[in-house]
Amino acid sequence: MLRAEAIEAGYGGLPVLKGLTFGIERNEAVALIGANGAGKSTLVRALCGLLPLTAGRILQDGREIQRLPAHQRTRHGIAVVLESRHLFGELSVRHNLELAAAHGERHGAARRKFRMDDVIGLFPFLGGRLDASVQLLSGGEQQMVAIARALLLHPELLILDEPSTGLSPKVVREIVGALATLRSAGMSILLVEQNVALAVEAADRAYVMSLGLIVQELDAAAWKGVLDDEALLQAYLGS
Ligand SMILES: Nc1ncnc2c1ncn2[C@@H]1O[C@H](COP(=O)(O)OP(=O)(O)OP(=O)(O)O)[C@@H](O)[C@H]1O
Ligand SMILES: [Mg+2]
Repeated sequence: MLRAEAIEAGYGGLPVLKGLTFGIERNEAVALIGANGAGKSTLVRALCGLLPLTAGRILQDGREIQRLPAHQRTRHGIAVVLESRHLFGELSVRHNLELAAAHGERHGAARRKFRMDDVIGLFPFLGGRLDASVQLLSGGEQQMVAIARALLLHPELLILDEPSTGLSPKVVREIVGALATLRSAGMSILLVEQNVALAVEAADRAYVMSLGLIVQELDAAAWKGVLDDEALLQAYLGS
């Protein structure tokens, strides 16, 4: 459903993505792993329209989208949870979610719709904290609000940039559980994650990124065994 072809992008004169090609099919959960500074977040920004390409194409169902601004990519079914989450801290959980739902109302007619009840079903704590100010929530709770907000845009492809970073094991389990539920409901997921054990659980296969390029593609069988592949983990993750 989404394909990046030889994409290049960077900051000012600094090239970061150096002709990178990869794809994700409908109903697939794909992990993207790689060391700090590999360019994972830069790729996420390029895919969702926050960073322009300097070369290459991004195709969604065969249609070029690399010139569309971020909000139009959202309308076409690509939603992202950024590393920094970008929530409105002073507003309540409800208000943050309602703002997304209002946006979601305007698109996605043919797609699966997510309602407030659906996201509360996925993350039950939300139901009890709707009137809390987001800045008073824990990091894990904020991450769940950020995922819920992305879902209220009715995505077909959900991109998550390191959703587990800095969170307790309990919250990470909850997020992995929610991703599993979404996968079984047919959501396509691109999961950027340095926690390989978690990523193996949450994704069908994976790409390994290093220095702005995809350096390995792991099919389902190779991906399942990746935790035993010390050479690969050492080479690309330094773990
Ligand atoms: N806003 C920016 N301006 C200039 N350079 C940047 C900017 N953001 C990232 N970079 C540079 O781009 C390169 C890739 O960074 P990026 O954040 O994409 O890596 P990453 O794989 O997401 O790393 P991490 O695992 O630490 O999140 C790094 O060399 C970084 O210093
Ligand atoms: Mg990053």
